Amino acid sequence: MATNTMRAIRLHEHGGPDVLHYDEVPVPDPGPGEVLVRVHAVGVNPPDWYLRDGMSNLPPETRPAFDLPVVPGTDMSGVVEAVGADVDGFSVGDEVFGLLRFPSFDGHTYAEYVAAPASDLALKPAGIDHVQAAAVPMSGLTAWQFLIEVGHDHPSPFQAAKHRPVPLGPDVTVLVNGAAGGVGHLALQLAKWKGARVIAVASGRHESFLRGLGADEFIDYTRGRPEDLVHDVDLVLDTVGGSESNRFLRTLARGGALFPVFFGEFEEEETAELGVTVSGAQVRSNGAQLAELGRLLDAGAIRVAIDSTFPLEDARAAHERAAQGHIQGKIVLTVAQGTRRFSDA
Ligand SMILES: NC(=O)c1ccc[n+]([C@@H]2O[C@H](COP(=O)([O-])OP(=O)(O)OC[C@H]3O[C@@H](n4cnc5c(N)ncnc54)[C@H](OP(=O)(O)O)[C@@H]3O)[C@@H](O)[C@H]2O)c1
Repeated sequence: MATNTMRAIRLHEHGGPDVLHYDEVPVPDPGPGEVLVRVHAVGVNPPDWYLRDGMSNLPPETRPAFDLPVVPGTDMSGVVEAVGADVDGFSVGDEVFGLLRFPSFDGHTYAEYVAAPASDLALKPAGIDHVQAAAVPMSGLTAWQFLIEVGHDHPSPFQAAKHRPVPLGPDVTVLVNGAAGGVGHLALQLAKWKGARVIAVASGRHESFLRGLGADEFIDYTRGRPEDLVHDVDLVLDTVGGSESNRFLRTLARGGALFPVFFGEFEEEETAELGVTVSGAQVRSNGAQLAELGRLLDAGAIRVAIDSTFPLEDARAAHERAAQGHIQGKIVLTVAQGTRRFSDA
């Protein structure tokens, strides 16, 4: 039997965007519970460049080792090409999207075809295209699991206690830091969908975009420090993090909560003194929650913004764009749908 091949981006070593190579590789076989998806578009996320550069943002002793070469990527939208054993609910020809096998780094979506666990997939909303659908999974599920429902009982690598979303409604003020990014712009809209008042923090170029998504207030962090400008906030969702993230503790009302989406540094003594809590989670694949996001996208209750698109073979240029920062929405790779180049022999 001939080996079926496809084109995919692989890393043979860790490093900058130039380690992303466009290779010819075998088409994966879907295992039990999986489907083979012909990929139309691939969402680009920070873990893609963390994997690419060998997790240089972690202390050396805690960096996981990865088998190379590896096809990176977690998010995709495409069409079911074949269905493995034990799969219910998906058929050949279905349009699907998903965050695959996260938090393991085994998504392998930077490719023309991917074997995808059916439980990680949802039907693509009919009202959005593959580029938009591929942009949603990791960012949308992160926003959903932080703000609406965790949806699983897996322990978090970041904290002993289970993360609990804060009930959102008209009496709740939410500040979203990094509001223009992938997670931020979807989190802002989920908070608005729940009726909350939202303060968006981003650089000034994003003001009309974020007001258009429903932000009630906008703070340009290049002109003023949010912690000097707002107080008595009920919830801060901070997608930026870093050594300065504890400054948001001072924006909270007593009883308020800070949700760091990226690592921050917090002292228990300070949070106890202020009467506030800090809680985070690690996003996990979840096809059922993605279907709920799909319904909101189809209904126009939320929308996903596309910063830029690049052909799969130009993944390097997509990562160069990401490294420039100031992302508005999502970066997406498009996969040309040429003549099918393989068949069972
Ligand atoms: N816990 C989890 O499971 C989980 C899941 C997904 C993502 N994450 C992490 O969450 C972070 C955000 O992910 P993402 O996909 O949303 O990233 P992204 O799309 O790159 O967005 C980052 C946004 O932050 C803004 N920003 C940068 N510096 C800022 C500052 N000082 N103040 C306010 N905004 C600032 C950027 O635009 P401007 O500077 O122009 O405003 C950009 O829009 C990443 O670190 C990612 O690793 C964690």
